Amino acid sequence: METIWIKEIDKTCDMEAIQEAGRIIRAGGLVAFPTETVYGLGGDALNPSSSEKIYAAKGRPSDNPLIVHICRLEDLEVVAQNIPEVAWKLAEEFWPGPLTMIFEKKEIVPKETTGGLNTVAVRFPDHAIAREFIKAAGGFVAAPSANTSGRPSPTVGKYVYEDMNGKIEMLLDGGQVGIGVESTIVDVTQNPPMVLRPGYVTTEMLEGLLGEIKADPTMFEVGGNVAPKAPGMKYKHYAPKGELMIVSGCDEDIAVYIKKQIMKHQKEGLKVGLITDKGQAQGYVADSIKLIESRNDSQQLARDLFKFLREFDDEGIDRMYVASVEQTGIGQAVMNRMLKAAGHRVVDATTGKLI
Ligand code: TXA
Ligand code: MG
Repeated sequence: METIWIKEIDKTCDMEAIQEAGRIIRAGGLVAFPTETVYGLGGDALNPSSSEKIYAAKGRPSDNPLIVHICRLEDLEVVAQNIPEVAWKLAEEFWPGPLTMIFEKKEIVPKETTGGLNTVAVRFPDHAIAREFIKAAGGFVAAPSANTSGRPSPTVGKYVYEDMNGKIEMLLDGGQVGIGVESTIVDVTQNPPMVLRPGYVTTEMLEGLLGEIKADPTMFEVGGNVAPKAPGMKYKHYAPKGELMIVSGCDEDIAVYIKKQIMKHQKEGLKVGLITDKGQAQGYVADSIKLIESRNDSQQLARDLFKFLREFDDEGIDRMYVASVEQTGIGQAVMNRMLKAAGHRVVDATTGKLI
């Protein structure tokens, strides 16, 4: 299959292309599209064979449910039932936006879309192209992140193309997305609601609105044997081809540790990549350096993390280092994704030992 790559859709807002994308979905095909978080790999959420095609294109296990994307609040009631009051409150505050809620599903949603579960994940994205596309597609688009299963989620169109060329009918390329990590997932079938995946809508923001909120304890574990509540969170994720290591400690110790590691690896003939802030970057002779403004600016790291990991792959980097970030605000989501990408390897810069 030839994948039609529509470039700069964010600038052109080419409605003809969006209508064509909608027709593809209604005919049972697949289209990748930008959202404010990451790119989605869309199919008709109400068509079981579309969901099967999504799993095949991603190489994803079919027990891992998909998120149903809507473009009108009233459409929530088409796919979800027993919607609790708290969900309307969350919707009013955070929709459209980077929040996914888990509900009891209605009959109309096929089991293929929900990975066999009786619940359904629903998201109303805040991205003009995404919303026009969902509307053109009939209102219900099932979409996981548009990466091959296990790889970093794509935040620029070219990485969607890299993974999906030949497997989907069309790619709506809207440039680099704004947020860069996937939506926050909140299970509202429980009381109090439970955060299953941290994201741009932070635990602090949810607490501010609802008072009490739980968090799936597996979100914060470094090792961990307990299965997470969101089935997808148990799989290997965001893995770059090389090895990523998270370094924890004060700035000075981190700098000393990383310099030692660079020397060691380069002697072994390995290429080393770093994600570091401007202040520290001068001291390094790494093969590739990705700059962030400040170690404490988790928002920028959220936006660029997956792109950096993909770029390291393109550059043939074998070993990568990044300093840990504080697990507050968006830092919680960033650290969660970094831990997965690093296979949970965190080293203490002072002792050189794994934590
Ligand atoms: O920001 C996002 O949410 C992006 C964009 C494209 O909207 N989508 C995304 O989808 O990240 P995906 O498939 O990569 O991640 C969906 C996560 C998985 O961990 C899955 O297990 C969980 O949501 N999930 C979906 N339905 C669920 C359900 N009924 N119960 C519990 N977890 C569910
Ligand atoms: Mg994903």
